[in-house]
Amino acid sequence: MKKFGIVPGILKNSLTINDLPTLKSYPIIGHAYLFFPGGKYRSDKLTEAIQDISYQLGPIFRLNLGGKDLVISTNADHTETLFRNEGIRPNRPPFPALYYYRKEAFNSVGVVPGNGDEWYKFRSGVTSLLRTNLLQSYVEVQEDVANSFVAYIKKQCNENGVLSNIQDHLLKFAIEAISVVCPGNRFRCTSESSCQDEEIIAASNDFMEGMYETFIGPPFWKIFKTAGYKKLESSHQIIYRIMEKHLKNVTRMHCQSPEKLIARQPFMYTLFTNEQLTDDDKVMLSMEIFLGGIDTTATTTALTLCYLAQNELVQEKARKDATTKDMSYIRACVKETLRLSPTAGANSRFLARDTKFDDYLIPKGTLLLAFSSVTSCDKKYFKNAQSYYPDRWLRANNEEFHKFASLPFGYGPRMCPGKRLAENEIAILLKKILQSYKLELEADLNVEMVYRMNRIPDRPINIKFINTNY
Ligand code: HEM
Repeated sequence: MKKFGIVPGILKNSLTINDLPTLKSYPIIGHAYLFFPGGKYRSDKLTEAIQDISYQLGPIFRLNLGGKDLVISTNADHTETLFRNEGIRPNRPPFPALYYYRKEAFNSVGVVPGNGDEWYKFRSGVTSLLRTNLLQSYVEVQEDVANSFVAYIKKQCNENGVLSNIQDHLLKFAIEAISVVCPGNRFRCTSESSCQDEEIIAASNDFMEGMYETFIGPPFWKIFKTAGYKKLESSHQIIYRIMEKHLKNVTRMHCQSPEKLIARQPFMYTLFTNEQLTDDDKVMLSMEIFLGGIDTTATTTALTLCYLAQNELVQEKARKDATTKDMSYIRACVKETLRLSPTAGANSRFLARDTKFDDYLIPKGTLLLAFSSVTSCDKKYFKNAQSYYPDRWLRANNEEFHKFASLPFGYGPRMCPGKRLAENEIAILLKKILQSYKLELEADLNVEMVYRMNRIPDRPINIKFINTNY
């Protein structure tokens, strides 16, 4: 008998998608009323809403939003079934406005907005980012970027040693950190004033907001340029203008001395020598990789600093670990942050085939949202689920948990290509910070997450840095 997916022979006895539990809905608006102003739930607190609905209806249910039936699960076995059946070209909800704009303005759409064969072609341009040996060649420069941020902290703290709203500062770090990989030219945002960081941050924010607004709202952008659509336009124009000259340098280096490009910018080399991609595709993918992880990297680092400041013993352990080569405890801290406060609310896929979840046979093409931000905080899957306990991720600890309960970077062929890069950037920065500073919170803080495109902290995180090098 197959463990996952369809079990032959019992299909005819299965319940259908229409048998899934659901809440009362209305014609045209479906369940959207739940999220209207004054409604029971807040759309920027979707994780909490789904958790609450799951208490009422159980681990799998159906909601009608945006005129479509969505299946939502808060069960890690279902997440596993979903990913085990996703096929080699997993389909996620597309971003039609982003797709349309990019095609019109850049003659290329990149890896994020589309699906199918087109996605597969673009994906080939970015998977090299997951190669350990390619990432190894950036470690030295990443250490240097982290050193610059440590020096920046010293300059920017107020007279009490507090750096207010650390997320904003970490956006500069995230830009500098990604720039050394793509476009392969360091944007010195934490040491030089001429680096255009404010413009890039504004573009990154507009990009996220533009994606979100055109994604969740009615498709009026097809008729006129909505505010969300204009944000997509302006963010791409700014990033293109800023990246253009650097990308020309890459092209020049590629023609004149490819061996230099391999040695100095291995990611750009793999991208620019990919024969499946046109020149327009290469430019689009460069923009996408540059923009792709700025927000998520800054958020995850800010929250890890916050958790460390709140947990003195964990911070001490992490400080000791900062002297080791593999930094396994610091890496465990990042995993634990992403378990408790993942930037993505859910992993979503259109089912590649008819698939069975418990007793329900859900038809091919249905959109299923596996709400990892709920499962990863569920006591069913993690002991002391609400506590920040990085030790649980250490092999020596032997804590057993469901492999699919916390998946902050997704899973499978469509998993985040920046996963390892982001983990390295963040771990190296934490190491450098812990070697120089003890962390405290300026005041007690209970940070929650709100949805923009990604989830972000709902309030500023103000960290007090106490220099330990005197
Ligand atoms: C802590 C940092 C990050 C988190 C938590 C994160 C999370 C995610 C998640 C959940 C997905 C969807 C995966 C799926 O559907 O299975 C994703 C996709 C993606 N991420 Fe990240 N990400 C991070 C950093 C980065 C970085 C640094 C980059 C760029 C180097 C990046 C580029 C992308 C791209 C291009 C995609 C789309 C992949 C595709 O559709 O094939 N991310 N990320």
